[in-house]
Amino acid sequence: MLLFDVYSIQQINITKAKGSYVWDETGQKYLDMYGGHAVISIGHLHDHWQKTLKDQLDKIAFYSNSIIIRLQEELAQKLGEVSGKEDYSLFLCNSGAEANENALKLASFHTGRKKVVTFTGAFHGRTSLAVAATDNPAIVAPVNYTGDIIRLPFNDEQALTECFAKHGPEICAVIIEGIQGVGGIYEAECSFLQSIRTLCDQHGSVYIADTVQCGYGRSGSFFSHDAAGVNADIYTMAKGMGNGFPVAGIAIAPEFVAKKGMLGTTFGGNHLACVAAIAVLDVIQQENLIENARTLGQYIINKLKSYPEVKSVRGRGLMIGFEMNEPFTKTLKSYLLSKCRIFTGEAKNNTIRLLPSLALTREEADQFFAAFDSLIYNLICKILCLPTMLSIFQH
Ligand SMILES: Cc1ncc(COP(=O)(O)O)c(C=O)c1O
Repeated sequence: MLLFDVYSIQQINITKAKGSYVWDETGQKYLDMYGGHAVISIGHLHDHWQKTLKDQLDKIAFYSNSIIIRLQEELAQKLGEVSGKEDYSLFLCNSGAEANENALKLASFHTGRKKVVTFTGAFHGRTSLAVAATDNPAIVAPVNYTGDIIRLPFNDEQALTECFAKHGPEICAVIIEGIQGVGGIYEAECSFLQSIRTLCDQHGSVYIADTVQCGYGRSGSFFSHDAAGVNADIYTMAKGMGNGFPVAGIAIAPEFVAKKGMLGTTFGGNHLACVAAIAVLDVIQQENLIENARTLGQYIINKLKSYPEVKSVRGRGLMIGFEMNEPFTKTLKSYLLSKCRIFTGEAKNNTIRLLPSLALTREEADQFFAAFDSLIYNLICKILCLPTMLSIFQH
């Protein structure tokens, strides 16, 4: 059987990882400034995470949600503590799309309504309603299409207010990323999130914060939406939650009433997933990783802004996007990988995305900048046709 060929992949076979580094099968070392799409939150194979998972494997790996799983309660308790949402409750599932599906479904059960407000540039996943809410027609199959999605311009308060004035009683939920990831690292303005809160309160709609990519401390606060000083009704979480072990969840405000069977999953909240997620929160607390994301992120952002070759820098904490001026736009990301052995990500409009582990050190950030400097220097030399200075491109 062959693999179903849907991914654009780098021809690199990673066989080993530790902290902010990965190695390929030839032993070549790479600095990981991307964390496998923002998944690596506390560093590859963190000792505590690894030991916790190994210890759990000596006990039990999985049983379904038909028995007591004390680890789920422990995770919920700890998540409430670290996120500051102690009075919320937790439903566990397996992926970001599944978290958003469950959030939207719960909002619809709660309100009895169907219409979902979502925004230009949004990415919420690839399943049924999550993909319908995503702003990318290329990944919406005919079966996913629904007339219940209302797409508004991102950060446009007037359009939002007018939409609620027109459709208020029909609006089930507003779903929004605090910082758009796939869309190119664009922040939702605090006043915009506050308006969503106010309008949802006025019209009995549910405010869903998609924190799948921007959450779990990455922005320098636990949920990036926290910067606006208002609570969402539901927070969806995934990527950084398990540091690579698949686990996701939704944190649900106290006004929602659980009914037996209204949500459910076979794998969600299994023993291994819970210990992985608990270990991540332990490390986030013990190593002050949210603070590190805030300060180191600011350091990287400030430094990027100092380059004349950099056109724009966006983001917060260790969720950073930047665009280069011509002639660097198209080449930089691939050269960072092929010449400097640094993984980065991309987003719309040739944006380079940096989503490293929250445990990235200043030295590792400086290693990135040393490579960045030499790359820019060599590209300039190449453009000016100075072959002797091009040694970096010759191997
Ligand atoms: C903001 C956001 N929501 C949802 C998802 C979907 O998550 P998953 O790929 O785990 O289904 C993603 C994935 O990139 C995301 O960035």
